[in-house]
Amino acid sequence: MKIVFATHNINKAKEVAALLPNIELVTLEEIACFEEIAETATTLEGNAAIKANYVTEKYKLNCFADDTGLEVDALNGSPGVYSARYAGEDGDAEKNMDKLLNALRGQENRSARFRTVIALNLDGKQFQFEGVCEGEILKEKSGSKGFGYDPIFKPKGYTTSFAEMSMHEKGKISHRGLAVAKLIAFLNTL
Ligand code: IMP
Repeated sequence: MKIVFATHNINKAKEVAALLPNIELVTLEEIACFEEIAETATTLEGNAAIKANYVTEKYKLNCFADDTGLEVDALNGSPGVYSARYAGEDGDAEKNMDKLLNALRGQENRSARFRTVIALNLDGKQFQFEGVCEGEILKEKSGSKGFGYDPIFKPKGYTTSFAEMSMHEKGKISHRGLAVAKLIAFLNTL
């Protein structure tokens, strides 16, 4: 089965492709969709749907899209749906992490979770899948693998950050891995 994964993030595409060996994953670049799809919703569910619908409507293809947020309890769930732009439109992963570490300076409650929502458009219907990974925000960056907030996120029950795990190890317990596992289970019932 051939499905478009609506992302421009090559790291994410690789992570997900490794979890979906039986599906021919097509990237946005492969369908010549080079535009940035505006994420204008205020929820992860809304943004995932916007991205999947954009591709399905414009290219008439089955497609799934994901949206992820890092929800920090001491910050009332921020940065959440705004995780990518936490340090501003010109920000990057380093600036986002620095801003978060500063916001939590002196804070003992460091519990947080990554939450991923996948919206799948398949033959005219939409399905959504959620994956959650509980953990905590470290006091400093640790590790150099992965992307985004990986160096400062330690999943519950582990002693290392996401950035110290292999892609395979992370995929087994991560928010995205869990959401993709639900997507796979669903696709396998078809
Ligand atoms: P996206 O919706 O997957 O693009 O995620 C939004 C933002 O959340 C990204 O720009 C990253 O900063 C962060 N993020 C998403 N997934 C991960 C992850 O697995 N590790 C670390 N940061 C992530």
